[in-house]
Amino acid sequence: MTTLTPVHFFSHGSTMMLGEESTSADYWKACGDLALSHNIKGVIMMGAHWDAAGDAIEVATNPSPAKSPLAYVHPDKYVNYKLNPDLKTAERVLGMLKKDGFAARENKEFDWIHDTFLILIRMFPSGCPPTTLISMNARFDPHFHLKVGSCIRPLRKENYLIIGTGGAVHNLYRNNWKPMMAYRDNFAQPVPPGAWALEFRQAFEDVMTRGCGPRLRRAVTRLMKHPLYRDAHGTDDHFMSAMFVAGACGDEEDAGVEGVLGAETWELSHMCNSQFTLGYWGQMIKAT
Ligand SMILES: [Fe+2]
Repeated sequence: MTTLTPVHFFSHGSTMMLGEESTSADYWKACGDLALSHNIKGVIMMGAHWDAAGDAIEVATNPSPAKSPLAYVHPDKYVNYKLNPDLKTAERVLGMLKKDGFAARENKEFDWIHDTFLILIRMFPSGCPPTTLISMNARFDPHFHLKVGSCIRPLRKENYLIIGTGGAVHNLYRNNWKPMMAYRDNFAQPVPPGAWALEFRQAFEDVMTRGCGPRLRRAVTRLMKHPLYRDAHGTDDHFMSAMFVAGACGDEEDAGVEGVLGAETWELSHMCNSQFTLGYWGQMIKAT
């Protein structure tokens, strides 16, 4: 028998999710502690802020990446955190992607953005594990990103932790920004979340928690045809890593394995930051 690591889909929310405490932040830390206690080899992430043009997909190979600045967060919270790019695994991931037919290439200059390092700091405040970043493709084809997840899925058998970071409901055009801009209060809820946000958030939870495997792949990609999808996601960038995650736990071997909604934090009235774990530590499959 062999074991499979779980996979996370985390909604990183606004930059203030790094500076302010929340149940999502507590959950990220708990997931990080669990991963470390199981001696993960490294983290492999797709975020929501980096995409490659044309047919390409990129893997970050900058040995000493900078961090993009974060609005409304004290620099002490992130400036001195040391990132840990996993160049060996990046090379391997590149090889796997190319072997599967992707126009994959390395990017030696990419600096990391908060979609990934915010999560890493929250999960691993005492030190960043070796981490590999994979870009999105700017055409935002759900099936393309699902295949990327499927391609690197075998690394779950080697104790790598795969994470997609985006958003469950993430439409910056519809957020209520005033409490954050005027009072630095990202959690203020002067009005209830819109019905469109609540409805899509529920659809996403239903898909993510009713079993992994091929049905998860079908269901997640189909969500982009949901009547309220465009209300919930004004752009596609924060939903692509959900496809990546579904690919990484959408094999026949994953069929029926549970997904769990571990925490949820609403920001800016209408942005729903749901945090999911698919699979579990110690999940056994027959050796192949
Ligand atoms: Fe983002």
